[in-house]
Amino acid sequence: MTIDQARLEAFVGKMVADMGAAISAPLVRLGDRLGLYKQMAGAGPLSAEQLAERSGVLERYVREWLNAQAASGYVDYDPATERYTLGDEAAMVLADERSPVFMGGAFDIMSAAFADQDKLLDAFRHGRGLGWHEHDKCLFSGTERFFRSGYNAHLVPEWIPAIEGAREKLEAGARVADVGCGFGASTIVMAKAWPNSRFIGFDYHEPSIAAARERAAEAGVGDRVEFQVAGAKDYPGRDYDLVTFFDCLHDMGDPVGAARHVRESIDDDGIWMLVEPFAHDSVADNLNPVGRIYYSASTMICTPCSLAQEVGLGLGAQAGERRLRQVATEGGFGRFHRATETPFNMVFEARA
Ligand SMILES: C[S@@+](CC[C@H](N)C(=O)[O-])C[C@H]1O[C@@H](n2cnc3c(N)ncnc32)[C@H](O)[C@@H]1O
Repeated sequence: MTIDQARLEAFVGKMVADMGAAISAPLVRLGDRLGLYKQMAGAGPLSAEQLAERSGVLERYVREWLNAQAASGYVDYDPATERYTLGDEAAMVLADERSPVFMGGAFDIMSAAFADQDKLLDAFRHGRGLGWHEHDKCLFSGTERFFRSGYNAHLVPEWIPAIEGAREKLEAGARVADVGCGFGASTIVMAKAWPNSRFIGFDYHEPSIAAARERAAEAGVGDRVEFQVAGAKDYPGRDYDLVTFFDCLHDMGDPVGAARHVRESIDDDGIWMLVEPFAHDSVADNLNPVGRIYYSASTMICTPCSLAQEVGLGLGAQAGERRLRQVATEGGFGRFHRATETPFNMVFEARA
């Protein structure tokens, strides 16, 4: 064995940075849950005592937490005044749930991944799947919070207009099925924007459907939105104008079967809108920071979810356009193209 000292040091340095990010993750979640970031947002420089008082948290904990935040580069520390500032840009990411770049939900998802390690160990060892419903429950609310930012920012102004004729149908009054809807974030965003249309969200996970119903009532769109427990291959209804799948096809055991069911449930002029995590076609091209997050989540959440279901295709969260086109074609769709994309998502339009 010949050790290249420079490469060794570089690798150790990389791991030290990664250890810092990993050990800091629960602190981000604590800051989120205790309202520490929200208290700091727009408040200017604060001492540990001031933040402790505002948030009702023990000062000694707050001081240590603030030092960890400063060491992470999330807040600025002024040694002369011993005050800490959460910059406006950091506040958009950590404090403002309505910002397009809010990332608090990602840390709920990570928390579920840590909590579910023993189940994953068992699944890996014995070649079993791990259903969506078998995860720690912070995965469900975390997924809603994580994806909602992108849906709020892009769905109405960019994604729907990128699909030929979709906006016109929604404005005139369309029948829409949102499959694998989770807590209904995407369903509710669409329902708010297009009051003439009727939306029905389906998901096999009963607690998510219960949460989605509550969210719709809170949002005041209960008159045009309904949620039902149903799987992607057996949800009821025909002649939908638009069927949407947001970040869920790759979680399914039988994506081809789901595509076939979509094809049967839309009319000949109907549209299947498929939103999937951004990915290139080859593994080598996905070896970047976004691909790293998605491959990791895919290993612990998406792939085990698919393997727990019928067929168990295990598409993975980085399937890429070529593979997704194959699924749509096998499901009976003649046309399939990428309508638009963001750094986190690709939006596809499939038609008969
Ligand atoms: C990553 S989450 C996305 C949820 C939601 N679309 C969103 O964007 O917030 C995947 C969802 O797919 C659902 N799911 C998985 N397999 C399913 C199936 N075969 N039929 C219906 N829903 C399914 C899960 O219960 C989960 O809510």
